[in-house]
Amino acid sequence: MALLEVAGLTKRFGGFTAVDGVSFSVAEGEILGLLGPNGSGKSTTFNCIAGMLRPTSGSVKLAGEEIAGLTADATCRRGIGRTFQIPRPFRGLSLLENAALAAHYGAGGHIGREEAWRRARDALRLAQLPEDPDATTQGLGAAGLKKLELARALATQPKLLLADESLGGLDAGEMRQAAQMLKRIRDERGITIVWVEHIMGVLLSVVDRVVVLDHGAVIFQGTPQDAQEDAKVAEVYLGPPEARAA
Ligand SMILES: Nc1ncnc2c1ncn2[C@@H]1O[C@H](COP(=O)(O)OP(=O)(O)OP(=O)(O)O)[C@@H](O)[C@H]1O
Ligand SMILES: [Mg+2]
Repeated sequence: MALLEVAGLTKRFGGFTAVDGVSFSVAEGEILGLLGPNGSGKSTTFNCIAGMLRPTSGSVKLAGEEIAGLTADATCRRGIGRTFQIPRPFRGLSLLENAALAAHYGAGGHIGREEAWRRARDALRLAQLPEDPDATTQGLGAAGLKKLELARALATQPKLLLADESLGGLDAGEMRQAAQMLKRIRDERGITIVWVEHIMGVLLSVVDRVVVLDHGAVIFQGTPQDAQEDAKVAEVYLGPPEARAA
């Protein structure tokens, strides 16, 4: 059975349709790349799955159970962790406290203080951040803040991780590192991942499958290899053939 099944998902803002009948599924243990140019509806799709937004229509099933319309805290307790494109950590708290707070709201219901610290340290280790209780967000660059987003999501002990990465702010080495980190999280922990990105390059090296959105609709589903050869995918990324440089 698919861990996540999205069917006919639609989100309208007034007269504007940001997500337009999107359907895809994610198998347990898979890394799916959700691609598409700026404004194509990737983050809105995540927001509808994870309950930050209520879908206008459509179905979202987690392990066969309908979750469309549930609130963000409810989807989190059921095992959906997510990172946000724009990191907003608690600046006054240590890295460990940021992760521990997330652990308290995560899967499995109420946990004690010791267990929250344990989950927080484990998540920081996985995200390659210091577990030192004195380490703060001060001096974390774009890559560090993305790692903290990841640590906070991991501390909730998700079955499904929705990573709104958008590696735009990172250099090539940092992008490769971020991609390898997601792969390790899947390989070592068996966490199923949907990775949102608008840059195709590094994503294609680690994902099992790709879904491409354009103007809120799915225009391609398939292997990363086939995505690179698909005419419609090339068009949304590079423009029409006649407009491309020779
Ligand atoms: N709350 C909102 N109200 C109105 N329009 C919105 C809202 N949220 C998103 N949109 C619009 O919906 C469209 C899809 O936005 P979304 O953020 O999902 O794109 P995206 O694929 O994540 O883009 P990016 O790659 O830039 O992150 C955009 O045109 C955006 O302006
Ligand atoms: Mg986005």
